[in-house]
Amino acid sequence: MRTPVVIIGGGPSGLLLSQLLHLAGVENVVLERRTRDYVLGRIRAGVLEWGTVEMLRAAGVGARMDREGFVHEGTFLAARNAQFRVDFVQRAGKPVMVYGQTEVTRDLYFARAASGGTVIHEAEGVTPHGLDTSAPWVTYVKNGTEERIDCEFVIGCDGFHGVSRGCIPASVLRETERVYPFGWLGILSETPPVSHELIYANHARGFALCSMRNAHLSRYYLQVPVDAHVENWSDDRFWDELRRRIPHEAAETLVTGPSIEKSIAPLRSYVAEPMRWGRLFLCGDAAHIVPPTGAKGLNLAMSDVHYLSEALIAHYRDGEPGGLDTYSERALARVWKATRFSWWMTTTLHRFDDQGAFGQRIQEAEIDYLASSPAAQAAMAENYVGLPF
Ligand code: APR
Ligand code: PHB
Repeated sequence: MRTPVVIIGGGPSGLLLSQLLHLAGVENVVLERRTRDYVLGRIRAGVLEWGTVEMLRAAGVGARMDREGFVHEGTFLAARNAQFRVDFVQRAGKPVMVYGQTEVTRDLYFARAASGGTVIHEAEGVTPHGLDTSAPWVTYVKNGTEERIDCEFVIGCDGFHGVSRGCIPASVLRETERVYPFGWLGILSETPPVSHELIYANHARGFALCSMRNAHLSRYYLQVPVDAHVENWSDDRFWDELRRRIPHEAAETLVTGPSIEKSIAPLRSYVAEPMRWGRLFLCGDAAHIVPPTGAKGLNLAMSDVHYLSEALIAHYRDGEPGGLDTYSERALARVWKATRFSWWMTTTLHRFDDQGAFGQRIQEAEIDYLASSPAAQAAMAENYVGLPF
């Protein structure tokens, strides 16, 4: 088989890139290790920056999001069980959209299928070759048979555990990482959300987040030690702890019920540089991970896709290679700003074992400052709704 662009990974980055290239007449093939149902079974964050919303619309996959998603014009922040609101529209001129990443992925699969896109599932042992030549190729095994695709570019959209990043020689790749000493225990429950907007809560017992998927489906998180086990967290224990950490007014009206999903995710920041080597380009989680505080993961993947799709389309349409040469630099400038913001939200809102009373009071003062300063709110809101790209 031969195609101009091989995309490794059929998560949101790979599928959106595939769709945008297709719309511009650049054919491509997506190779995904898992089945479609497996990919659609993963529960991920649910806040879309406005730039992401506009990209999805432009890619022709915005209709269900516009019907079923919820526009949020602000969020609540809390400390010591008291909350205040940051108005995104007032402070930064834009809202965000609450719509699950799983749904974004489902819409993208549907769109790729509707326009005859090639997405090969259960592609095992995907391996790029000849990335430092002008004629790379990718091999993989499907139904026990080895296949080969010749191409011009290989795009690594294969997430943090993918194969692509490892193809960059160790002498070239720079990795920067921070592993946080705690995780998030998340539950999904078929109960009405406690608040019409999200609540991010600092508390001396640890961070808590109240989020949602729709009017009947809530998503809640608690900061837990990194070695915590889900089995030790009964639903009752979860709800009791959540009530202790969130604002009193929310705790009083919280509707609880059985969890339909419960899992623990570690928190880390990680950036790989550069995001290009020869004919290989990295996008999304393949190149960087942020902690979920601030919900930047998917949105950063989308801005990478924006820069890369623009560059590939300019290359194929106008023979203009400049965008490909500057892709890594442009993407990383935004990646680092989102990494900083995610670090700031994480550091401001979570309990660190060694922070002591001083650290706790400094966090409370920072949150108090945010509550009273339009300038501080503008800085937070402009990052939360998404820096321009
Ligand atoms: N071969 C083929 N496919 C692979 C391989 C491989 N060797 N390794 C991983 N994959 C697939 C995974 O099965 C997954 O479907 O690549 C896909 C990567 O998808 P994501 O992990 O969702 O990454 P990305 O598309 O960059 O989306 C970023 O997802 O992880 C969240 O927080 C993150 O919200 C952000 C978003
Ligand atoms: C979620 O709804 O899963 C969610 C929302 C906001 C975050 C992280 C996760 O910052």
